[in-house]
Amino acid sequence: MTTERPLFIPVILGTPRQGRMSEHVARFVCGELEKRAGVETELIDVRALNLPTDDAGEAIKDVGFSRACARADGLVIVTPEYNHGYPGMLKHALDTNLKEYIHKAVGVCGVSAGGFGGTRVIENLLPVLREFGLVAIFNDGNFSRVGKIFDESGALLDESYVKRTESFLKELVWMSKTLRYGRENVAN
Ligand SMILES: Cc1cc2nc3c(=O)[nH]c(=O)nc-3n(C[C@H](O)[C@H](O)[C@H](O)COP(=O)(O)O)c2cc1C
Repeated sequence: MTTERPLFIPVILGTPRQGRMSEHVARFVCGELEKRAGVETELIDVRALNLPTDDAGEAIKDVGFSRACARADGLVIVTPEYNHGYPGMLKHALDTNLKEYIHKAVGVCGVSAGGFGGTRVIENLLPVLREFGLVAIFNDGNFSRVGKIFDESGALLDESYVKRTESFLKELVWMSKTLRYGRENVAN
């Protein structure tokens, strides 16, 4: 099994909203990923993709985003919960790729003002991820009452999230490694 080549696991920040608290979550998760040996990451901001809104799907691919997804071994999706669903812009961005996702691991971090840590948006996103050919891990990141977890500058106020995020990322890294082995070594 290849162990030397680092895994690439980008973090997708799934909302373009002004004042989004999900950005603090995405930056935090990215920072925790960076600390892990053998893992490379980068933050992908759906707002910065500037995708056209008069078309959809692979017709509006962003070259950088598609390349990052093609290179990725796994993905973290950070999504806020908007009326129990995911932001339209997140789906719009994810829809621009397809083959780039197949047989790759994905972990989802739900972000909410309420107390359910985005569990409802995560459940709603799972069938979409399956259609992409992504393989969802069985751990989630749940960031409930996000305004109490980070201050306005994005500093972490609740240290318990370091440990929780560690087990989420441990599983994601294992799945990313295992699926890479499968893609590269097991006939399909
Ligand atoms: C359109 C909209 C709908 C929302 N719906 C919910 C919801 O269903 N449940 C919830 O806990 N918070 C809800 N919120 C609050 C967000 O979860 C909150 O803004 C949180 O900070 C994460 O989103 P953000 O990254 O946009 O800040 C909603 C916010 C918006 C803008």
